[in-house]
Amino acid sequence: MPPMTHPQHEGRPVRVLFVCLGNICRSPSAEALFRHYVASQGASEDYEIDSAGLIAHHQGELPDGRMRAHAARRGYTLDSRSRPITYEDFFHFDYIIGMDEANRTRLLELAPTEEAAGKVSLLPEWCAESPRDHVPDPYYGGAEGFEHVLDLLELCLPSLYEKTRPT
Ligand code: 4NP
Repeated sequence: MPPMTHPQHEGRPVRVLFVCLGNICRSPSAEALFRHYVASQGASEDYEIDSAGLIAHHQGELPDGRMRAHAARRGYTLDSRSRPITYEDFFHFDYIIGMDEANRTRLLELAPTEEAAGKVSLLPEWCAESPRDHVPDPYYGGAEGFEHVLDLLELCLPSLYEKTRPT
């Protein structure tokens, strides 16, 4: 588990924000798959789950069609709309979870307070079994990149749940 202070969220849902560069491939997939997994555990009421990007270039768009198609084949519907991360997000969310080191660097630059910076982690840090220390950007590659994203998410998100769920 990444070094961070344990958030105070007794009595309300745990707030998780997934972040990537464009918010059209990795982080909307993480959002949808984590929501799906949390529901399978009967814990939907215990979580608030969202995603955001570090650039506004795709603002308002549905996730990338390739990402949606690969996810749909595994039974996941990606229907969020891209939005850039906001100043308020750093106060609202308990966990701000990036996909790669470039995401982390930018999140730490944007974090308005030390406490907010302490909320930032990368998804594979939550998962001892992860074969990768980051979730690679599939945007400029082929089909295998999208499958790899989904493989990593399916492996790591249950660990994130186990380590963040309210006790
Ligand atoms: P994502 O993938 O960060 O996983 O959503 C990308 C999406 C768009 C771009 C880069 C990566 N882009 O350069 O527009």
